[in-house]
Amino acid sequence: MKLIEAKDYEDMSKQACALMVNKLNELDNPVLGLATGSTPVGLYECLIEKYKQGEITFEHAVSFNLDEYIGLADDNPNSYHYFMNEKLFNHINIPNENTHVPSGVAENYDIECEQYEKMIKDANNIDVQLLGLGVNGHIGFNEPGTPFTSRTHVVELDESTRNANAHFFASGWEVPSRAISMGIESIMESKEIILLASGEKKAKAIARLINGDISELFPASILHKHSNVTVIADKAACAKLK
Ligand code: GLP
Repeated sequence: MKLIEAKDYEDMSKQACALMVNKLNELDNPVLGLATGSTPVGLYECLIEKYKQGEITFEHAVSFNLDEYIGLADDNPNSYHYFMNEKLFNHINIPNENTHVPSGVAENYDIECEQYEKMIKDANNIDVQLLGLGVNGHIGFNEPGTPFTSRTHVVELDESTRNANAHFFASGWEVPSRAISMGIESIMESKEIILLASGEKKAKAIARLINGDISELFPASILHKHSNVTVIADKAACAKLK
């Protein structure tokens, strides 16, 4: 695992953006694994900028998002699908049919999970997967205790995760208690992984990730077993590193 210490949020976003720009230019049909949350927003802004400047194109890109809340349709402003449209997809030239977000309103989740896995396999797996980091070590919505062998599945969200994400929700809306998420094994099949972390509130999790043991109680720790992982964390997030 390679650790890059960035100065601040902007520097973290720019460094991640540079890696993504290289990948997009290197591959004919890049398959991107995308994340939501506040962490990747600056990176998405940078990618939009690079696209507008003509440095990159998403014409032949395919994307798969990590997760979605159960009960929220893609046109619901609190859904991750809506977030992706607003923060990235609406501003770049990725064909709509090439973007994939698990459905939060599927009739049958067993089928939805299987189909999501199949679509990723059919795309020949994810070339570069972006990850944020939950304060409890979650990746995607794989909460502590999730088996490392998990595939795309329905998860019960921890109270701490629901509290951490409550600020994204419009008033009158509660954070759903369940989500659909790519599993840990599905994430580990990505060819390359970039994990981003920013701010003091992630410092404990970054220290646990870098210095701690590999345990299902801290999902992100599995990344030590992947051969191509870059962690880009800003100074505040690195504050508790030995
Ligand atoms: C959320 C998402 C994760 C995200 C993480 C961190 O719950 N499901 O994919 O990476 O938690 O969120 P943030 O970037 O807002 O700190």
